[in-house]
Amino acid sequence: MFSPKSFVSEAIQKVRKEVTGRAVVAVSGGIDSTVAAKISSDALGSGILAIYVDTGFMRLGENEDVRETLSRLGINYKIVEEEHLFLERLKGVTDPESKRKIIGKTFIDVFEREAIAFGADYLVQGTIAPDWIESGGGLRDTIKSHHNVGGLPEKVNLKIVEPLRDLYKDEVREIAEFYEIPKMRQPFPGPGMAVRIIGEITKERLEILKRATSILEANVSKMEKIPWQYFVVLLADRATGVHGDRRIYGSTVAIRCVNSTDGMTADFTPMPLELLAKISREITNGIPEICRVVYDITDKPPATIEWE
Ligand code: XMP
Repeated sequence: MFSPKSFVSEAIQKVRKEVTGRAVVAVSGGIDSTVAAKISSDALGSGILAIYVDTGFMRLGENEDVRETLSRLGINYKIVEEEHLFLERLKGVTDPESKRKIIGKTFIDVFEREAIAFGADYLVQGTIAPDWIESGGGLRDTIKSHHNVGGLPEKVNLKIVEPLRDLYKDEVREIAEFYEIPKMRQPFPGPGMAVRIIGEITKERLEILKRATSILEANVSKMEKIPWQYFVVLLADRATGVHGDRRIYGSTVAIRCVNSTDGMTADFTPMPLELLAKISREITNGIPEICRVVYDITDKPPATIEWE
């Protein structure tokens, strides 16, 4: 039986042994990186700086939540706003793997810069087992290069520490409970909404997706049984629609809701049709750029949870 208490005390010892100087920890606002930050903060105290890079790809209100959680946990942190840099480097890029690699490289560049400023030699990451297993870490072929593994440049100037490397999601959740980390939002990919925009990522497309996501989240939060993960994907295909008596050529979004325990496999959530219809109307009424909403009814496998 997995014991969060003994895992945590062993992990703290390991981090103390492994890190001989100062460290930075990459926090994304998700459960994995928050737990990794808390463990390393308990191990190293003021010798660690948690860095949150505001990529611009997170959801509305996310920065405030991250700030509050890190403050409450007593972790030394810094928020770095880099939306402009990410969008600049992703200009014209449409290939999913290239996006992830560019995002990964930009993350690391920012961390290196901040780490140098902090005087750190180490980078703590919240990588968990499914991340490296699915990044070609030995057990499987490369399915996707998760930004915090496959996207690393060949020569990283920081020594990587991964205290959660052998854990699965449910175990990380148990540790979060142990630390009394507030029940957090659903799992969210490191590259954020960047992997939920098919085709080029622009500021305008990002705004459209954020608004649609807020509508979905507001509706799902009232459900009796909330799906494990639920999000909106902005497709590259255009679709014809009508606005008043005008034909328009607008965007299509896909809603994806899945039930899972560890993200390795997943079943699509059989959402009540009336609720889907309500969400669809709210999205198309509230966001004129979107004229079509579809629901994804594919399990994992054969599909992955994310579309990219
Ligand atoms: P997939 O799409 O591979 O997703 O079935 C499994 C779980 O992992 C999340 N995911 C990511 N997490 N970086 C992350 O940190 C990524 O690049 C990434 N891609 C997918 C996904 O949201 C799901 O919970």
